[in-house]
Amino acid sequence: MSQGLESSLVNSSPKVALVTGASRGIGAACALALGQAGFKVAVHYRGSEDKALAVCEKIPGARSFKADLADATACQALIKTIVAEMGPIAVLVNNAGISIDQILPFAKPEDFDSLLNTNLKPVFLLSKFVSKGMMRAKSGRIINIASVVGYTGNPGQSMYASTKGAITAFTKSIAQELGSFGILCNCVAPGFIKTDMTDALPEAAKEGILAKIPLKRLGTPEDVAAAVTFLASDNAQYITGSTIHVNGGMFTN
Ligand SMILES: NC(=O)c1ccc[n+]([C@@H]2O[C@H](COP(=O)([O-])OP(=O)(O)OC[C@H]3O[C@@H](n4cnc5c(N)ncnc54)[C@H](OP(=O)(O)O)[C@@H]3O)[C@@H](O)[C@H]2O)c1
Repeated sequence: MSQGLESSLVNSSPKVALVTGASRGIGAACALALGQAGFKVAVHYRGSEDKALAVCEKIPGARSFKADLADATACQALIKTIVAEMGPIAVLVNNAGISIDQILPFAKPEDFDSLLNTNLKPVFLLSKFVSKGMMRAKSGRIINIASVVGYTGNPGQSMYASTKGAITAFTKSIAQELGSFGILCNCVAPGFIKTDMTDALPEAAKEGILAKIPLKRLGTPEDVAAAVTFLASDNAQYITGSTIHVNGGMFTN
């Protein structure tokens, strides 16, 4: 990170950034990068407590918070607890998510419910719950982790891709609603990033994807975290309703 970017983030009192799903993968990298940039980080997790604590130990002033975001009441309780224990939330990174892949004829309605309840509804709820505090503060950043497949579609991922496409439409809408309150809302859309989520894919599928990436490598969680940290910084003050694609040029499937 450039000296300028880092110094522009370190204000007199550190601002609170909440990263959901920060125990592993992209979320953990975002938490670490925002911590390095001077934010006080709320590290959210669902089940991976040891990993969340390990992330916290690397970030001065970080705290961990457990919640199953598929439970709507837990979403509200999470925001209330963080505000009470750490102060107003200046940056929300909606990162937690799952993938369940299946071609349409065999897709299970209950899996679609799980995807909606984990990937999409918490993005709506958490954004809603932080928005009032951000309106009072007349500033804030909401950064939603979408996906390249929300743009391109992908065979076998109609359920997952539709949650990610919806996140993009949601973000563009709230950017227009909240802009006059100084709240900036953007997406980061990762391509194929090396995490537990993608490690689960068969080797042949990974090789097929790699062949389609112009930059000829998989992305890293840190590649995504760099874009998130930029959008949280003072250097992104005139950017809202946008999506930064972090995909090595892989826009086709
Ligand atoms: N990896 C990629 O190539 C890729 C590409 C495009 C978009 N994305 C998106 O990027 C985000 C992060 O992906 P990743 O690859 O880093 O995933 P990951 O390694 O599988 O980690 C997922 C995170 O989400 C949390 N989580 C899952 N279900 C949850 C629930 N019900 N309530 C609360 N937290 C929950 C997990 O918490 P616990 O471990 O504590 O349970 C974990 O911290 C996701 O939204 C994903 O869709 C990833």
